Amino acid sequence: MAKAIVIYETRSGNTEMMAKAIETGLKKAGVDVELKKGARATVDNLKDVDAVILGSPTYVRSLIAAMKTFLFEMDKVDLKGKVGAAFGSYGWSGESIEILTETMKNLAGMNVIEPGLRINRRPTEKGLEECREFGKKIAERIK
Ligand SMILES: Cc1cc2nc3c(=O)[nH]c(=O)nc-3n(C[C@H](O)[C@H](O)[C@H](O)COP(=O)(O)O)c2cc1C
Repeated sequence: MAKAIVIYETRSGNTEMMAKAIETGLKKAGVDVELKKGARATVDNLKDVDAVILGSPTYVRSLIAAMKTFLFEMDKVDLKGKVGAAFGSYGWSGESIEILTETMKNLAGMNVIEPGLRINRRPTEKGLEECREFGKKIAERIK
């Protein structure tokens, strides 16, 4: 069974709603998924996964601090050629998705699905459906 991990952080819950809906989309497509907060994720969580999906809201044009810290943890593992994807909620500029995408590509040499998924503020039902579809799309790449 293909295996994926969704690692994310959130301050007011919006990116968490996205993470859970992406998890649902992956599960429905038959992928074994783990959902983990960035502050609690370690290298051990990255072993034997086919895809790493990273989520961060944008705060002051950057990643939320815990996801920035997690990237240093991620640097300890060889993820070259693995599938990656980025997502996050944003208010007006949404830099975090591009930052996560770039880092997965340049630091880890991952095969990143582009574009990543950005949702403005709190996801509506339509937004959550987009997240589930994004999960399905990732599943198709690793199955
Ligand atoms: C202090 C602060 C700074 C923010 N800076 C940005 C920003 O630079 N660009 C942007 O697109 N949104 C910005 N936002 C909006 C958040 O990204 C938005 O509220 C998002 O939905 C929060 O996601 P979360 O609930 O997962 O934490 C900012 C919000 C706050 C409170």
